[in-house]
Amino acid sequence: MRIPRGGGRLLLATCLGSLFVLLLYFQSVTKAEPEGNPSLSRTGKSRRSPLQALYNGDQQMDMLAAQRSLQGRRELLEQACLGHTRKRRVLSPEDLKHLIVDDKHSLIYCYVPKVACTNWKRILMVLTNGGRYSDPLDIPANEAHVTGNLRTLSEFTVPEINHRLRSYLKFIFVRDPFERLVSAYRNKFTRSYNTAFHKRYGTKIIRRHRKDPEPEALQKGDDVAFHEFVQYLVDPRTQREEPFNEHWERVHTLCHPCLIHYDVVGKYETLEPDAQAVLRLAGVENLLHFPTSGKSTRTDGNMAARFFKHISPLYQKKLFNLYRMDFLLFNYSMPDYLRS
Ligand SMILES: *[C@@H]1O[C@H](CO)[C@@H](O)[C@H](O)[C@H]1NC(C)=O
Repeated sequence: MRIPRGGGRLLLATCLGSLFVLLLYFQSVTKAEPEGNPSLSRTGKSRRSPLQALYNGDQQMDMLAAQRSLQGRRELLEQACLGHTRKRRVLSPEDLKHLIVDDKHSLIYCYVPKVACTNWKRILMVLTNGGRYSDPLDIPANEAHVTGNLRTLSEFTVPEINHRLRSYLKFIFVRDPFERLVSAYRNKFTRSYNTAFHKRYGTKIIRRHRKDPEPEALQKGDDVAFHEFVQYLVDPRTQREEPFNEHWERVHTLCHPCLIHYDVVGKYETLEPDAQAVLRLAGVENLLHFPTSGKSTRTDGNMAARFFKHISPLYQKKLFNLYRMDFLLFNYSMPDYLRS
């Protein structure tokens, strides 16, 4: 039997009233919890947890190819982390706010906006919400994002967090960083209904990065150009003032992939088979299908290339440096359209 690598073990370092600091402990877990908390399938029979299903060798033949590519991504991530992060870092509960927990199926999912996260949240609502919904697509998108509909790891106590990191299947879905960025820009700045983003970010971007803006643009913030958005991202003041909004924050910062050892790294570029693999490991592939979006407006490489054509090489380089860790950790290369 293969022993799963640990979830990254959290030890309680100090506990001062409500302030507690969690110390991340890099040691691989030497002992898995094979029968720690066997979950029940709908038929009431004890079954293996998703984590056991992933690491315990005897999968069906057609899973093997998929398993191998998942293993390759895990190893690449591990190597990249070793090569590019120097210090052990301290994790706090605040760092675990993007990790959604499904206690029933022993799953932890770190959500990354613009990487099919609405559909993953819908799936997890069906899995955790005891029968209220059976079809993910019955759940309106805005309801999937209501905080409180799903539990996050940050809500648990330190021993509860440790137990879950050790024994649950932890998964994440990532995407080419620049395609994700173009997708975020299109969604938040080119759709007239996103007035909250226009007010909150658009007005500031126009004030700082446009010469002689019209008073109306300054007031509404609804016509930010992509190059202005890029200038905003690479402006050192931006991150000094507050963290990036989660729609353009780096996966490295949202999900801490060098501190939390993800068992499955899914990719948006192979969303359907990767989602299917996770559902299969969770033992729910016959109950649920990952919603496939037939959206023709999806941002792809060609579209990203069109947006980047108007960005100067200097700013392309700055932007690449900003998202460098996401490129390295998840095996994305500098896009072709930037190299020329
Ligand atoms: C990394 O990306 C390259 C180029 O796309 C690919 O050939 C290789 O298989 C990838 N490696 C892993 C471990 O996914």
